[in-house]
Amino acid sequence: MEQQRETWGGTIGFVLAAAGSAIGLGNIWKFPYITGMNGGGAFVIIYLICIFLLGTPLMLSEIAIGRKTQKNPYGAFKEISPAGSKFSRVLGILLLLQAVFMIYSGIDNLVDNGTNSGMIGFGVVSALAGALIIWKGVAMVGLFSILTGLAILSYYSVIGGWILEYVYLAFSRQMNFETVAQAKETFGNFITCPWKVVLLHLVFMVLCGAMLWGGIRKGVERWSKILMPLLLLLLIAVIIRGVTLPGAIDGVKFFLSPDFSKLSTGSILEALGHSFYSLSLGMGIMITYGSYMKKQENILRTSVFIIILDTIAALMAGLAIFPAVFAMGGQPTAGPSLIFQVLPVTFNHFPGGFGWFWAGLFFLMLTIAAFTSGASLLEMGVTFLIDQLKWSRKKAISVLFVIISLLGILSAISVTGWENIPWVKKAFDFCFSPEHVKGNFFDVLDYITSNWCLPLAGMMTAIFTGWLWTARKAARELREGDLTHLQDTNILLLLSGFRDEPFYSQMIRNGLTLMTFWAILIRFVAPIIILFVFLHSLGINLGF
Ligand code: PHE
Repeated sequence: MEQQRETWGGTIGFVLAAAGSAIGLGNIWKFPYITGMNGGGAFVIIYLICIFLLGTPLMLSEIAIGRKTQKNPYGAFKEISPAGSKFSRVLGILLLLQAVFMIYSGIDNLVDNGTNSGMIGFGVVSALAGALIIWKGVAMVGLFSILTGLAILSYYSVIGGWILEYVYLAFSRQMNFETVAQAKETFGNFITCPWKVVLLHLVFMVLCGAMLWGGIRKGVERWSKILMPLLLLLLIAVIIRGVTLPGAIDGVKFFLSPDFSKLSTGSILEALGHSFYSLSLGMGIMITYGSYMKKQENILRTSVFIIILDTIAALMAGLAIFPAVFAMGGQPTAGPSLIFQVLPVTFNHFPGGFGWFWAGLFFLMLTIAAFTSGASLLEMGVTFLIDQLKWSRKKAISVLFVIISLLGILSAISVTGWENIPWVKKAFDFCFSPEHVKGNFFDVLDYITSNWCLPLAGMMTAIFTGWLWTARKAARELREGDLTHLQDTNILLLLSGFRDEPFYSQMIRNGLTLMTFWAILIRFVAPIIILFVFLHSLGINLGF
C-alpha cells in the first residue's frame, strides 16, 4: 500500500521552513552589495515593486502546484499536463524556433566578426529542451528546474564552506585585518587553497544532509523552528551594534534614501532577477515544500508571511552592513567583496576591541542563512528521487550528497584557475562566448543558472499555471482553506479567465479582488516581464 505523504506539522513550521529557503546568501550577501552598486534606496524601491508584481504571484503558483499534486516538480508538471498535450507541442516548437534564430545569429556573428556571441551554445540547449518537451511533455520543465537547483547547490555549498571558514577566523581572533588589502590577501590565499575549500564544502554538504535526514517534520521543520528565530536574533543584535556606532547614520541614509539618478535599465533588470532568486522561485523549491502542505492551510496567507519575512531579512541585512561600513569609513560600493573583504576590516575597527565577536555573530548568521537554503535545494532532489524512483529518504540523500559534492569540488578548485580543469574550460568556450564565460567554472555556473535557467523556468511556471493548468483551477487550490469573499468586475473576469467558473459567477461583480489581480499578473504580467529580463540577459535589447 502506498504510504501517506508526510505533511508539515503546522503553519508556523511551513512558513519558517520556506523562509529558511528564501532567506539565504541572496538576502544577506547579494542584496546589500547590489544595492550598494546601484545607488542605494532607489534600488530598494524597485526591488520591492518586483517582489510585489513578480515574486508574489509566482510564489502563490508554485505552492499551489505543489499542494494540488503533492509531488515533486517533475511529477507535478507531469500530472497536470501529460506528455503529448497540445500545449507541450506548442511550447516545444517555440523553443525550436528560438533555437534556429539563435544558432543562425550565432553563426552570422561568427562569420561576420569572427567572434562567438554565445548564441550557438544557448541555441543548442534550446533545441534540446524543445525536442525533449515535444517528446516527453511539460514534465521536462520540472526536470529542468530540478537540475538547475542541484547545479546551484553545487556552488552554493562552496560559498557555504567559505563562510564556515570566516566563522572560525572570527572566533579564533585571526580576523584582525587593518586594511582591505590585507583582508583581500587572506581571502585570496584561502579560496585558492584546494584542500581547505573542498573540505569545508563537504562539511557544509554534510550539514545539509543532516537537516533532511529526519524527514519533513522531524528534520526540516524542527531545524527551521530553531534556526530561523536564531537568525533573526543575531541579525537584530548586529544591527543594533552597527547603528549605534558614531557616524552610522550616513549608512542608513545611503541605504534608505532614494536617488533615482543612479538607476539604469540594468539595475531594474537586476532587481527583477534578484527578486526571483531571493524568494527561491523558478526551480521548484516552493513546489516541493508546498507538496507537503495540508489542505486546510491557507496558501495566500502563508505566502504573504514568507515574502514579508524574506523582504524584511534583506532590508535588515542592509541595515546590519551599511551603517557599520560607513561608520568605519569602508567602501559601500565594493561589490561581491563587500562581505569577505570590507566587512572583516569594518568589524576589526569597531571601538572597544570586541569586533571579532560581532564578526563571529555576523558570519554565524550568514552560515544559518546559507545552510537552510542549501538544504532546501537538496530536499527538492531528495523528494524527486523518493517520489519517482521510490527510493528511501536516506538512500536519496546519500546518493545526491555524493554527486553534488563531486560537482562542487569542480567549482571549488576552479577558483584557482581553469588550469585545474582544462577540459571543462574547453567545452564552455566551445558552447558559449568569452563574454558569458567570464571568470571560472563557479562564476559560469552562477551566471548560467541565475540569469538563464531561473527566468526560463519561472516564465514557464507562470504560463503553465495561468494558461495550461488555468488560473481558474489554480485559484480554486489557492482558495482552499480560505473563505474570504471575492468580488470581480466583468472585464476582470474576462482577463482572469474566471468567467465561466460557477463559483465566481455567484459573486458580486464589482470591485477589484485579490484573486483576479493574481490571475492577471500570472497570465500576462509575469511572463512578459520575465521574457524581457531573459532577452536582456542574453544581450538582446528591445529598444530600452
Ligand atoms: N533564496 C536563496 C537566497 O536568497 C537562494 C536560493 C535560490 C535558495 C534558489 C534555494 C533555491 O539566497
